[in-house]
Amino acid sequence: MLPGMPLPARPLQIVGSLASARVGRSVPLKVTHLLTYHCNVECGFCTRIHAESGHMASEQVVGMMESFARMGTRWWVFNGGEPTLVKSLGEYIAAGRRLGFHRSMVTNGTRISERIDELRDLDLVICSIHGDRVEHDRVVGRQGSYEAAIRGLELLRSHDVAVCLLCVLNERNRSMMDDLLQLGEQLGAGVAFQPVIETRLGGAEIADGLVPRQQAMAEAVDWLIGEKMAGRPVSCSADYLEAIRQTWPGKPFGLKCWAGRLFCEVTPEGYVVPCCSEEEYVAADRHGPTVGWERAFGALPDRSGCQACWFKGPQELNLLLGLRPRQAMRAASNLARGRLLWD
Ligand SMILES: C[S@@+](CC[C@H](N)C(=O)[O-])C[C@H]1O[C@@H](n2cnc3c(N)ncnc32)[C@H](O)[C@@H]1O
Ligand code: SF4
Ligand code: SF4
Repeated sequence: MLPGMPLPARPLQIVGSLASARVGRSVPLKVTHLLTYHCNVECGFCTRIHAESGHMASEQVVGMMESFARMGTRWWVFNGGEPTLVKSLGEYIAAGRRLGFHRSMVTNGTRISERIDELRDLDLVICSIHGDRVEHDRVVGRQGSYEAAIRGLELLRSHDVAVCLLCVLNERNRSMMDDLLQLGEQLGAGVAFQPVIETRLGGAEIADGLVPRQQAMAEAVDWLIGEKMAGRPVSCSADYLEAIRQTWPGKPFGLKCWAGRLFCEVTPEGYVVPCCSEEEYVAADRHGPTVGWERAFGALPDRSGCQACWFKGPQELNLLLGLRPRQAMRAASNLARGRLLWD
């Protein structure tokens, strides 16, 4: 059994927002806030940390959260860079609680223990773990990162905070997926997977040999689908895994995308962008602190025909919103059992 209830309060409002999105009105149901591009480690596949990182004042961030709440936001994700490096994180988590958001955070886990008093107020912590201790520390470029993350995760679990592991599949970590599922089983956590995807933000090249080739990816996905069917805690929908199997690395993902209409991101400086693949496309008419958050969100382009990425976050939502019968039934059954919708 995986802990964590992924739905925030006011389900009828959410249904209303989805209905209005279907007739063309955009509602930012889920917002991912990149608090900073700074980080305390250096993953070989992460280009974000090479981008310049500005920031908003904490009053601006809280004002932004209030504006999005008025627009209908229900899910708020703290992301980065490394969000636990940001001093005001606890203040933002408290604001998210006051506004009734489902609050989650994506982290490398190294500073969970230091900030546990603030982080225990999150609904879900997604912690990136990319292999066993040796491989994880090698990928993130810092000894001791794995041990620190495990300590932090155990502490979160002792406070009953739901956790999920997120492994970025690279060319070398296929053989460690079983260890990761075992770790998930010990922690009572789901384990999510997504491939290393070539991104442009920050301009750096992804280290050689990290982007999985077609064969490595196909083997990994086939294995994961088998383990999922056997009841192990693979926190990816079978539809997501099958879509990767069919399209990686060169074909369009095959789904209409709701980026910019039902979900979006905000950069550390306060630019609204449609999704994690478009963080570099900042535009003056989408700078929230200058033009206001409603106008900034309203200025996002329609990306429904994009199909250009395999990122788990947006594509699982696109699958859910596509309302395929199998996906809808699975989501309903997960919901009834208090699990993440795509478990
Ligand atoms: C950019 S990080 C920010 C949050 C936090 N620092 C962390 O690592 O969890 C968010 C997630 O994106 C993943 N990621 C970074 N670069 C990626 C890439 N090129 N392809 C796929 N996933 C990537 C990270 O491993 C992490 O799971
Ligand atoms: S921990 Fe996160 S932000 Fe830091 S380098 Fe790795 S992926 Fe990038
Ligand atoms: S398919 Fe991916 S890259 Fe394209 S708009 Fe959607 S989330 Fe962004």
